[in-house]
Amino acid sequence: MIELSALRKVYPSPDGDVVALDGIDLTVERGTVHGVVGRSGAGKSTLIRCLTGLERPTSGTVTVDGVTISALPEARLRAARRRTGMVFQHVNLLDSRTIAANVAYPLEVAGVPRRQRAARVAELLDVVGLGDRAGAHPAQLSGGQKQRVGIARALATEPSVLLCDEPTSALDGETTREVLGLVRDLRDRLGITVVIITHEPAVVREVCDAVTLLQHGRVVQSGALADVVTQVGSPLSRALVPVPDLPPGARRALVEAVYSTRAVATSAAFAAVASLGDDVEVTSATVEPLAGERVGRLIVDAPRDRVEEVVARLRAAGLEPLAAPTSEEEVA
Ligand SMILES: Nc1ncnc2c1ncn2[C@@H]1O[C@H](COP(=O)(O)OP(=O)(O)O)[C@@H](O)[C@H]1O
Ligand SMILES: [Mg+2]
Repeated sequence: MIELSALRKVYPSPDGDVVALDGIDLTVERGTVHGVVGRSGAGKSTLIRCLTGLERPTSGTVTVDGVTISALPEARLRAARRRTGMVFQHVNLLDSRTIAANVAYPLEVAGVPRRQRAARVAELLDVVGLGDRAGAHPAQLSGGQKQRVGIARALATEPSVLLCDEPTSALDGETTREVLGLVRDLRDRLGITVVIITHEPAVVREVCDAVTLLQHGRVVQSGALADVVTQVGSPLSRALVPVPDLPPGARRALVEAVYSTRAVATSAAFAAVASLGDDVEVTSATVEPLAGERVGRLIVDAPRDRVEEVVARLRAAGLEPLAAPTSEEEVA
């Protein structure tokens, strides 16, 4: 488990201090994949560097599996760092070494004897599905395979936490899914805790159990994936389940509702709309799997003067609707 409490990081600069993290409180449960999203400069990478102990917080605490990293003296930090593995956008494998020798590298540094090293490397390559490529060189691998080697290398010292900074940003769609499939697998088979920074909503949807949105070094929204996306109109709901671009007609408005199909049957949502008569229509209805839940999103097109009635009817059916600001003025 990871616990951040009142975490602050300020970088001094000639033009004045840069507050990269401004009081972060966050818990990541053991064995979950936690996404961290936010614009460039929001503080995501700084957060991860504080988790590894590479960066000292200005104040506040960072605790990983009960060890308060932020309070450790320098001499003990090196050992503590082995508890966290890092994966980056660019893998930086040593080209002159085989895949196996690349994965062995952190074990050499840690002083693990040769025989033990070989056994561990074989095991790691199996975990990432590259057991048959041990003797290959990085140049012979695809982008996805290289990233899998990077993950095997990060796991070499048996960390309980894997920290990934934009691990799929340099990969295409299919390769991204391959790497994310591996991340899910590591969580399920090894019970590893994963923090993954990304700017891609698809990555969050595909692999995260929970997600945190950072803005100017602060937490704007955080929670289990299914919870944040069903908070209609919230920033993460909008980012993760975008509203389709519908041209709204004049004198008409859109009402949007997001719901967990566990709580509300889609047929019940439709029935509520149908009972409003012919001039109220469902223009878009989607149900998507998200973090083991199914999340529905309904968009209803109604006369502007009936919006309140539509909202009330949907609310009575158990949905949490929001009238979209699609006024005539905006359309004009
Ligand atoms: N080593 C550093 N020295 C000074 N400022 C930094 C340093 N690292 C990051 N920053 C600043 O801190 C803020 C957060 O950066 P960063 O954590 O890299 O954000 P993100 O990863 O979300 O893009 C930015 O304003 C950035 O310019
Ligand atoms: Mg960054």
